[in-house]
Amino acid sequence: MPRRITFPDDFIWGAATSAYQVEGAWNEDGKGPSIWDTFSHTPGRIANGDTGDVTVDHYHRFPEDINLMVELGLKAYRFSVAWSRIQPSGTGAANPAGLDFYDRLVDELLAKQIEPYLCLFHYDLPQPLQDKGGWPNRDTAFAFAEYARLVSERLSDRVKIWMTHNEPWVVAFAGYFSGEHAPGIKDPPAGFKAIHHLLLSHGLAAEAIRAEARQPVKVGITLNLNPVYPASDSRKDQEAAKRIDTVLNRSVLDPLLKGTSPMQEILAVRLLLTGVIKPGDLKKVRDLDILGINYYTRTVVKDDPSFPVVAASQVYPEGNEYSGMWEIYPEGLFTLLKRIWEDYQPKCEILITENGVPVPDGKDYDGRVRDERRIRYLSSHLDQIHRAIQDGIPVKGYFHWTLLDNFEWAYGFAPRFGLVYVDYKSLQRTIKDSGRWFAQVIRENGFEL
Ligand code: FCB
Repeated sequence: MPRRITFPDDFIWGAATSAYQVEGAWNEDGKGPSIWDTFSHTPGRIANGDTGDVTVDHYHRFPEDINLMVELGLKAYRFSVAWSRIQPSGTGAANPAGLDFYDRLVDELLAKQIEPYLCLFHYDLPQPLQDKGGWPNRDTAFAFAEYARLVSERLSDRVKIWMTHNEPWVVAFAGYFSGEHAPGIKDPPAGFKAIHHLLLSHGLAAEAIRAEARQPVKVGITLNLNPVYPASDSRKDQEAAKRIDTVLNRSVLDPLLKGTSPMQEILAVRLLLTGVIKPGDLKKVRDLDILGINYYTRTVVKDDPSFPVVAASQVYPEGNEYSGMWEIYPEGLFTLLKRIWEDYQPKCEILITENGVPVPDGKDYDGRVRDERRIRYLSSHLDQIHRAIQDGIPVKGYFHWTLLDNFEWAYGFAPRFGLVYVDYKSLQRTIKDSGRWFAQVIRENGFEL
């Protein structure tokens, strides 16, 4: 039996992108190099040798992209600011041309009645700050607060929603522990230092944004969160799941929502963090009007003493549905929301700031992109959000990852996540079937399942 799902009247429908993934113009108008410029220019780091030098050229084509947002009926657009456009060397005076770009972007969005959701950091640390140690260096947190102040000074008369970080966990652990992301460092202690300094920098930046703000603003953060499941009922696997949950989810949720750090609970981690968390730090971190959640998949783990620090590793259950990157597991989103609601009783707003699936999309004979798999992914995940709302968890909005196909970090351009297809040669944009479907959901504020 078909069932109609309707969202609350004020539900926010949006899509997300990030600066390095869409802007291109990597060295224009005074922009300095970021760690992603360095990383993508290093042979062997990115699949196929792809870079974000041009990517989808949003820097020059943003008016066209905003027209696409209008066609999709988006109420909000989540984008990130490239720190290295604002402060080319990571510190010092602002580069006027860098600020001007975001000024124009914000004005154009507002002219089309699309609310800007501005994120200050989506992976692209200025290279000169990495040269001084990057996020494992405590000074970076203070540099970030100054950058936040400069952007707030210029844009807070028009931008009301400020997200400090996107996925600090990924920045710390993919960047400094496993090295899959820039700066490509494989040093577990550095990863644990980085996560603390990223969280500290959230608090410092929140303070700076509010101090500079020209109107009442909301400040939030976006986290990658995965519900963690044990691979079996064995006590060892269950304990492994607990450890991974502590490092993956509680490591960021506890400081932000409770003002405590669970990192002390794992002996190996406690030793790594000695002297890193200074008195008073955790008080600063707990400053949140919006909790943004990026949900893509769940994590299933088994006990594995050979894996450093956490002694656990990931398994991929047989017989389930997978995309090119992850298991597809919609129920995990409900489980995650329920867990956050019960364990933390957050007073802040809850938003889904990213959710999406890579599909090897292509144009059919008539130029249409029939991406049914994305429509299935979208509807099954929206269904779980709706279920959470029915259950009393006030999820305020949903931002699809992503507006248009773009540079997918170490995977390069192969995975296509967009609601809009991009021909990477001509840079021509074509709304996919999923984009049309999403537009209808927005128009009707719901859909038939
Ligand atoms: C998230 C990132 C985003 C994009 C998606 C697929 O972890 O925030 O930039 O790469 O994954």
